[in-house]
Amino acid sequence: MNKQYYIETFGCQMNEYDSEKISGLLNSQGYLETTDKEEADLVIFNTCLIRENAENKLYGKLGAVKKLKLDHPEKIIAVCGCIPQNQEIRENILKRYPFIDLVFGTNTYDQLPELLYDLTRNKRKIIAIAENSTNLEEAVPKTRKFSHKAFVNIMYGCNNFCSYCVVPFTRGRERSRSTSDIVNEVRALAQNGYQEVTLLGQNVNSYGNDLPNNYYFPDLLRELNNIEEIGRIRFISSHPKDVNQDFIEAIKTSDKVCNQLHLPVQSGSTKVLKEMNRKYTKRQYLDFISDLRRNIPDISISTDVIVGFPGETNDDFDETIDLIKKVRFDSAFTFLYSIRPGTSAGKREDQIPEHVKQQRFERLLSTLYPIFEEKNLQHVGEEHIVLVDDISKNKSEYLTGRTEGNKLVHFKGSKQLIGKLAPVRITHAKTWYMEGILI
Ligand code: 5AD
Ligand code: SF4
Repeated sequence: MNKQYYIETFGCQMNEYDSEKISGLLNSQGYLETTDKEEADLVIFNTCLIRENAENKLYGKLGAVKKLKLDHPEKIIAVCGCIPQNQEIRENILKRYPFIDLVFGTNTYDQLPELLYDLTRNKRKIIAIAENSTNLEEAVPKTRKFSHKAFVNIMYGCNNFCSYCVVPFTRGRERSRSTSDIVNEVRALAQNGYQEVTLLGQNVNSYGNDLPNNYYFPDLLRELNNIEEIGRIRFISSHPKDVNQDFIEAIKTSDKVCNQLHLPVQSGSTKVLKEMNRKYTKRQYLDFISDLRRNIPDISISTDVIVGFPGETNDDFDETIDLIKKVRFDSAFTFLYSIRPGTSAGKREDQIPEHVKQQRFERLLSTLYPIFEEKNLQHVGEEHIVLVDDISKNKSEYLTGRTEGNKLVHFKGSKQLIGKLAPVRITHAKTWYMEGILI
């Protein structure tokens, strides 16, 4: 009988994409995926270290899985991804949860078949961590979650060392994948009926900085845009420091590249931005946005904001609120600053008390939410092409999909439309989604 595995993924799209590769590897070894931990021979947690609550989620899961392991000692419990990249935390986890059988990191999952072989043969705990890797896992198969949209990694790692962020420590230095590998992967997806690709990287617009030939992200966008069968191209995340005229031009002139940009700002205070090591000022960020909107008036812009960075004063936070009111983002991910191991901001003594962070967070949300709703309301009456993802979770007669601007739309329609592009007229708008009717 085939062995079964259960995989649970925490964190960002990069981790989700890694899980697709882990699934692909396991499927190629004859394993089958199950959504029931009890049935699984192998339970994997693909983990995230970006904020403390992501870390705590893993501890909750491990606490819960302890009994399963006690009752079924033959089950393999594996922890992988970003958390075990940190040595201190890894050693702590192994002490606290001695029943874990296998630990592997962000640079070693391509060795999974050998690791499992070793584990079952030699009946010993296996820990496989590499600090950095130049191996870009080209040969790893992937089991994609959807059959109409896919993630395609274009680079790994990050060189920016924002002072709050653990990613450069968990994912290593920037490595761009070869252009021909990316183009071939996107072409193959398109020929297999995929409508949309999302190019992934911690910082996609620094693509090519480590490659010869002066070939950069805008060049890649233009080249992918020439692949006939592909419908839509998206990308996340971009860094404001790498926004330039060529980047804006490439989005503007490439018809398949969605008029949508996720451009994390983190703070509106130039002082805080400097201490975060973000390499732009408030003024410069506002100028990027004006440039973008002047060239691409209908561009939808989202962002990430952190509140309560060490030393953030009320005046600094007012600057963030002011920037938000000026930019009027279409959507945003909002975070309470969280101390991360090994980061320079984590060592500062002027940490902001939790209750102050909370108060600022509430003010942040009450500034953002009405803007999201107003932005969505502007679309009422308009016709949008929606890539249909699925049946709506709450109402079974409704479908759900995304516009070019990445806005969620619910509308009535038949299941046959899933995976296709459908024209929809927007009738209602709320903070987080819009409703429409199929035209
Ligand atoms: N605390 C809070 N938010 C963080 N992010 C990264 N590190 C931290 C941290 N230590 C947020 C940033 C980043 C997003 C992926 O996560 O906003 O853009
Ligand atoms: Fe972290 Fe900054 Fe790199 Fe983004 S750019 S992954 S926030 S260090």
